[in-house]
Amino acid sequence: MTVAVSLINMKGGVGKTTLTFNLAWYCAWQANLRVLAVDLDPQSNLSQYFMGAEKYLEYLNEDRATVVDIFEQFSAPKSSRHAPALLDPKKVIYNLRRWRDGSLLDLVPSRLELAWTLKNPTEKAHLLPQFLAKVGPSYDLIIIDCAPTESILTAAAYRSSRYVVVPVRPEFLATIGLPLLARSLEEFRLMHQDQALDMAGIIFNDLRRSNTPPEQKRSRLAVSTLAAEFGWPVFDVAAHHSESYPAGSRQGTPIFMTDYARDYVKDEFSAVGENFLASIGVK
Ligand SMILES: Nc1ncnc2c1ncn2[C@@H]1O[C@H](COP(=O)(O)OP(=O)(O)O)[C@@H](O)[C@H]1O
Ligand SMILES: [Mg+2]
Repeated sequence: MTVAVSLINMKGGVGKTTLTFNLAWYCAWQANLRVLAVDLDPQSNLSQYFMGAEKYLEYLNEDRATVVDIFEQFSAPKSSRHAPALLDPKKVIYNLRRWRDGSLLDLVPSRLELAWTLKNPTEKAHLLPQFLAKVGPSYDLIIIDCAPTESILTAAAYRSSRYVVVPVRPEFLATIGLPLLARSLEEFRLMHQDQALDMAGIIFNDLRRSNTPPEQKRSRLAVSTLAAEFGWPVFDVAAHHSESYPAGSRQGTPIFMTDYARDYVKDEFSAVGENFLASIGVK
């Protein structure tokens, strides 16, 4: 059984991409799962983290397929003489890592042109779940990094997912996108009663490890109160602030593989990973 999860928050800069990247690595490398990560943000940060900035630029220059091709496979034909054909999944899936025990880590990269899909969104949201259903049997876990918008991309993520996980950075106005998210989830559920889509929980990210500022305490409380109102769980384990997250991302290295990250940071992220897997019923 493949489980698909979207990391989503209408607010940007909360850690969606950082957590997607590290969780994907954790689930493949530590939990021995077959993992497909999907970059569903035109900003393409996840693709850069996975491939490294240089390889990613090369990939773009070679005009290789991205998530854009999934959404646009039937628009803008390169030659009108050819009959329309379905996109070959092998062309869109970048193989990052293979382990001997069969676990693996793959990526569907993004590119800035995904913004065009937002401009002309009719009849496209189903193309992602359709694509993922086809490749799904090759994976245990599909993890989707979402853009901070309420758009066709959100709809595509929901339609592809069994669970939603919401990273929150406890700061001023941290709650601002949550009612909108609750509303968009509820709307989606009413419109798609044949699909199960559950909130797996809120995960606090980038907490200060010591001298917790009052703002962070207030914000955490406000978010937890709102979560309780919505009936959303909050992860027991939070990810604290560590410079190893951005440093690792820049080098295409997950936190637990860097040699500069402190052991307690690595251990904490493993606990976050276990909490994540438990919340989506994988372990
Ligand atoms: N736990 C953390 N500790 C330190 N820096 C973090 C942490 N989580 C995220 N960051 C940094 O914060 C910035 C925003 O994170 P990102 O994952 O890109 O957020 P989003 O995808 O929600 O926009 C990035 O520069 C990232 O490296
Ligand atoms: Mg992001």
